[in-house]
Amino acid sequence: MRILITAGPTREYLDDVRYLSNASSGQMGYALARSAIQAGHEVALVSGPVTLSPPEGCELYPVETTDEMFKQCEKLFADCDGVIGTAAVCDYRIKTRKPGKIAKTGEAITLELVETIDVLAELGTQKGDRWVMGFALESQDARFNAVRKLYSKKCDAIVLNSVSAIGSTENHVEVIDHSQETVATYSGPKAQVADSLIAWIQEHIAAGK
Ligand code: CTP
Ligand code: CA
Repeated sequence: MRILITAGPTREYLDDVRYLSNASSGQMGYALARSAIQAGHEVALVSGPVTLSPPEGCELYPVETTDEMFKQCEKLFADCDGVIGTAAVCDYRIKTRKPGKIAKTGEAITLELVETIDVLAELGTQKGDRWVMGFALESQDARFNAVRKLYSKKCDAIVLNSVSAIGSTENHVEVIDHSQETVATYSGPKAQVADSLIAWIQEHIAAGK
């Protein structure tokens, strides 16, 4: 298979030097890229700014903003069999980005934020016979929210992971499919969890396509 993977955070700039972003090391996405390559697949990795090196044999497409991530993914998805969305996409952007650097005035400022494009939901809408796997990071009503995202983003399966996974080398994940039940649970180092998730995709989603 040729697999598209999104990873890392995106950045949304207030001006030319300041931005909003998310806490994300990119480890899970890069681990999945490595596992997929080891399993014999091709990987196109669209990544926000992280300090990790891509695995050997992986095509890396660095991006910064959510809009750049979306445009790159849309281009690449045309030639892929499926997508795994692990990116911690910035949910809001500044309505009007200012050129240069906004000078401090000693007063509080108000920023008007608007929602960014939902990369995975857009790819879900375009998927046709391709498969889509999302990740859901939840701090409350985890299962309910993960199932809601599974449908709203037209995913074949969604991986529920806990907030404690941010920045950690370990992860505990649950895979939820259209049965709305947990159909697999994996815990351990992210590299090991990634191997299990790639094996799960091969067996349960890709095989049926
Ligand atoms: N995602 C995306 N583009 C966005 C927001 C999210 O591609 N603008 C993807 C993420 O990469 C992940 C999935 O959607 O695979 C779920 O992300 P999450 O942040 O858990 O959900 P949101 O839909 O953004 O909702 P919220 O943050 O309000 O919980
Ligand atoms: Ca989000």
